[in-house]
Amino acid sequence: MSGPNTSFDPKQVSALSAESVDFVVSEALLAIRAASDLVTLKEVRLAHAGDRSPLSLANREIGALPPAAKAEAGKRMGIARGQIKEALDLRESELQDARDSAVLTQETVDVTLPVDRTALGGRHPLTTLMERICDVFIAMGYDVAEGPEVEADWVNFDALNVPPDHPARTMQDTFYVESPESGVVLRTQTSPIQIRAMLDREVPIYVVAPGRVFRTDELDATHTPVFHQVEGLAVDVGLTMADLKGTLDHFAQSMFGEGIRTRLRPSYFPFTEPSAEIDLQCFVCRGESINHPEKPCRTCGSEGWIEWGGCGMVNPRVLRAVGIDSERYRGFAFGMGIERTLMFRNGVTDMRDMVEGDIRFTRAFGLES
Ligand code: DAH
Repeated sequence: MSGPNTSFDPKQVSALSAESVDFVVSEALLAIRAASDLVTLKEVRLAHAGDRSPLSLANREIGALPPAAKAEAGKRMGIARGQIKEALDLRESELQDARDSAVLTQETVDVTLPVDRTALGGRHPLTTLMERICDVFIAMGYDVAEGPEVEADWVNFDALNVPPDHPARTMQDTFYVESPESGVVLRTQTSPIQIRAMLDREVPIYVVAPGRVFRTDELDATHTPVFHQVEGLAVDVGLTMADLKGTLDHFAQSMFGEGIRTRLRPSYFPFTEPSAEIDLQCFVCRGESINHPEKPCRTCGSEGWIEWGGCGMVNPRVLRAVGIDSERYRGFAFGMGIERTLMFRNGVTDMRDMVEGDIRFTRAFGLES
């Protein structure tokens, strides 16, 4: 083992001299202060405090010093490294603070700006109207009933007292799924749901039944081969036309506004007896235009009333067809077009707008979910 190098002159290890250490430190402090961002500071840290920095390289020389000089040089180096580390840490936290506050100002969110909504599409106004109609009847204690769109002709016609030779049963009016002999049709009305409800349920029965129906019409401003109806049916002890009228008035008011009345006009449907057309008091002029020729009404053509649907007391033959005691029970029923109702309520003038599926039409009703 070799002894300490007693002939060594510390002054010759110039890298460890006070002057050169001071110089290295001041160079480092200058570079640290000049670092204007964290990336540069990282480079400065490597250059002035890394393994190959002047200070680290000088530090390696300590071992070569005589014992008397080691302590002093070690102390000097310790102070120098401490100064550099402290300056680096200080600058680093300054630069981090600066970066954080810059992010805060650059990424400020103005919560008062209008929301940029992503278009989610909208539910069709016919759908939401059907739901609203159901709600009106649910509030009166009715159940919502359903039936198939592909229906047996016995349910769509025969059970409803529409005889086999009735003109509605021709291929000019009805879509047959295969041939007229197949006995299967696309339902032409929601009235077959009445039959199904009476077959499936116990009396008393109170049901409302919206649904899609089909007729061989050409698509134009007032016709479409696929459209929607809503059917109402009540079967109970002691029902009269007054109950029917009260129900329709309430329905009309919930659709078209308080005070709107209905009028029943004698008519004929095979499944009701007596039968009536339901007229709606014009919700625009409220009948005023009849007596005021100077103020004509475009909505009702100054008639004061608008045809809305059909209704009547359920024909006892229909009750018997589904096995209900027609001596004991009486029923009332009504049916109207949903498209027509939407046209009245929202001023839609062309049915084609309702079937084309253009989102701009739907959007005009608001994006209901
Ligand atoms: N189903 C009839 C139609 O499509 C409408 C109708 C009339 C329904 C009278 C009824 C009713 O329930 O009682 O024209």
